Amino acid sequence: MLEGKRIVLGISGGIAAYKAASICSKLVQAGASVKVVMTESATRFITPLTLQTLSRNPVYLDTFDEFDPAVVAHIDLADHADLVLLAPATANILSKMATGLADDMLSTTLLATTAPIMVAPAMNVHMYAHPAVEHNMELLKRRGVRFIEPGTGLLACGYVGKGRLAEPEDIVAAVVQWFAASRLLEGKRVLVTAGGTVERLDSVRYLTNDSSGKMGFAIAETAARLGAKVTVVAAKTTAAMPAADVELVHVESAEEMLQTVAARYDDADIVIKSAAVADYRPVTRVPGKMKKTNSERLVLELERTTDILQTLGARKKGQFLVGFAAETEQIETYAMDKLQRKNCDLIVANDVTAEGAGFNVDTNIVQVFGAEGRVASWPLLSKHEVAEKLLQLVAERMAAREARE
Ligand code: CTP
Repeated sequence: MLEGKRIVLGISGGIAAYKAASICSKLVQAGASVKVVMTESATRFITPLTLQTLSRNPVYLDTFDEFDPAVVAHIDLADHADLVLLAPATANILSKMATGLADDMLSTTLLATTAPIMVAPAMNVHMYAHPAVEHNMELLKRRGVRFIEPGTGLLACGYVGKGRLAEPEDIVAAVVQWFAASRLLEGKRVLVTAGGTVERLDSVRYLTNDSSGKMGFAIAETAARLGAKVTVVAAKTTAAMPAADVELVHVESAEEMLQTVAARYDDADIVIKSAAVADYRPVTRVPGKMKKTNSERLVLELERTTDILQTLGARKKGQFLVGFAAETEQIETYAMDKLQRKNCDLIVANDVTAEGAGFNVDTNIVQVFGAEGRVASWPLLSKHEVAEKLLQLVAERMAAREARE
């Protein structure tokens, strides 16, 4: 199940470190090549020799242990991984990850890696619930780190509560599932639009909207992680650029976005239009900077832009087309109207007035509509979680469609 997969197993110093032996053994049995990095405290709970024997590889303990003069160990290790699994993760290592501290081999490797990171925390119930730890976990989740929730039960410290390391078989199952998901969109070409368009009045002034591009970039990153070849056509954005390997094309206006997307449409399998596109633009764009006049009023004349999604819907061949609908009322009615009018396969609707949804926040609350009506309604989730659920739904529906054809 994990044949050919290269996993770096990080072990930090909590009593649950002894369970890392079982995790390591199960990963190796499943076919993975496992390299272990331990903190010094972890070695108090379990010996490096145990992990070396189980992983059949040398165990990394000290940043300055350079086994191979041809490479720098922590960089080599960081680059080697398809996945870094940190189990158990103590409050201390989570704090180091959140702040970017690199003072030992494990924290340095975690900082140097561009591979996805999975974390299985284990600690005392009060530590787990501490606002500082919660804050660090939230921050790491937003950066794309995946968490395997600890269990609830009797803890080694004598307390009963949440904080017990997830069972080794559940951790390994999560790893297997993660690798399986990474092939969900293999071979698919995904075209995503993000951000808010800019419609210029003159060379320094423009009409735009509050879209940050966070949702579109989260979709692009997630699609790339699920194995797709991704192009993002981005208008004005304030979100951090997609971390994954995606082609990024910058545009400004609705018209430019239309041309750019239309040129790539025929090659796309999935098109997700999460950009906030202006419905109107100034009729004339004044060259240079517009001078004020003696008049107390200025009337701007605006004209309709082309509806990109509708244009794509009308030209649709086999593409799976997903639109977004930003609504403030009667969500279902308007979303279904957009779905039909724009010939979409799915519409993702959100109430932009709801707290935690819509523009410029890290979370979203959405309902998804298909031809048959509402097909999903998700609670408050991070935009990355929404992206993942949405792409799973798209993959399911495409597979069902392919099976029918
Ligand atoms: N959209 C588009 N081109 C436009 C306007 C909107 O492609 N000129 C797309 C958006 O990217 C989004 C969907 O249409 O995927 C819905 O956008 P929204 O602003 O909610 O809807 P509108 O069609 O503009 O409808 P209304 O203004 O009536 O709410």
